[in-house]
Amino acid sequence: MTTKNHQKVILVGDGAVGSAFAYSMVNQGLAEEFGIIDVVKERTEGDALDLEDAQVFTAPKNIYSADYADCKDADVVVITAGAAQKPGETRLDLVNKNLKIFSTIIKPIVDSGFDGIFVIAANPVDILTYATWKFSGFPKEKVIGSGTSLDTSRLRVALAKKIGVDPRNVDAYIMGEHGDSEFAAYDEATVGGKPLKTVAKEHGLSDDDLAQIEDQTRNKAYEIINRKGATYYGIATCLMRITKAILRDENAVLPVGAALDGQYGLDDIFIGTPAVINANGLASVIEVPLSAKEKDAMAKSAETLKKVTKDGLA
Ligand code: LAC
Repeated sequence: MTTKNHQKVILVGDGAVGSAFAYSMVNQGLAEEFGIIDVVKERTEGDALDLEDAQVFTAPKNIYSADYADCKDADVVVITAGAAQKPGETRLDLVNKNLKIFSTIIKPIVDSGFDGIFVIAANPVDILTYATWKFSGFPKEKVIGSGTSLDTSRLRVALAKKIGVDPRNVDAYIMGEHGDSEFAAYDEATVGGKPLKTVAKEHGLSDDDLAQIEDQTRNKAYEIINRKGATYYGIATCLMRITKAILRDENAVLPVGAALDGQYGLDDIFIGTPAVINANGLASVIEVPLSAKEKDAMAKSAETLKKVTKDGLA
């Protein structure tokens, strides 16, 4: 294992999301060692050579094109490998293709002797996070999905624009599937300790307006994909944030794809919920006291995921 002052992260999948994540890690000066694995070796070599030139302005880092054996003493392995949504595709449409890819990725990582934390960001992310847990045999706390971290960022940005505050001060969460069945937990959201719904009303936002913002959040990926073909900066920064919470042992509260053990009446599932993240991975799930309507939305979202997981992993 690495020491506290020498931390190592391995990225598997050097596509748009992986490459943006690598850049984000270099920019933030996180981890002293950063290996990149991809089926296209030349791409990882080129990215490593390109990224190393940035360290002069951030922090020294050994960046290299890696192999699965390099996962052995990594603190974190981040997996972005897999096909991305194309215009008109839902995330769930990718399940069979990406489960096949994951079935070939996880074993060599585990065989390397890796015993750190998995962070997953390929779609459908909740199902691929579950698959990583199953394929790896790791304790579920050591497998974390990007979950609804990106969706929550999108919600906060949209609300912040309407109520005129810093998005970082909008304490609101998207929960459930990272996908079409996700929902905004508005009933528990606050801004500066004041109920979000009250603040929204004070800014002329009706419940319908809030519902529209929730819908726009749910569909923002499609808007981006239809314009530029893919999304990557938002998700890459979410991955950096989750990885930082692990490397820095932060006990940060983040909306990740977490394993449930009875919370919200659910188990045997990974789904988007606020959770405490530290060097051990998932320290605890924060079970938000959902309203009846939100409990129903969570149950429906879980049902969608369980059905696809069952079919996909059958
Ligand atoms: C998105 C992809 C990462 O929501 O699922 O942009």
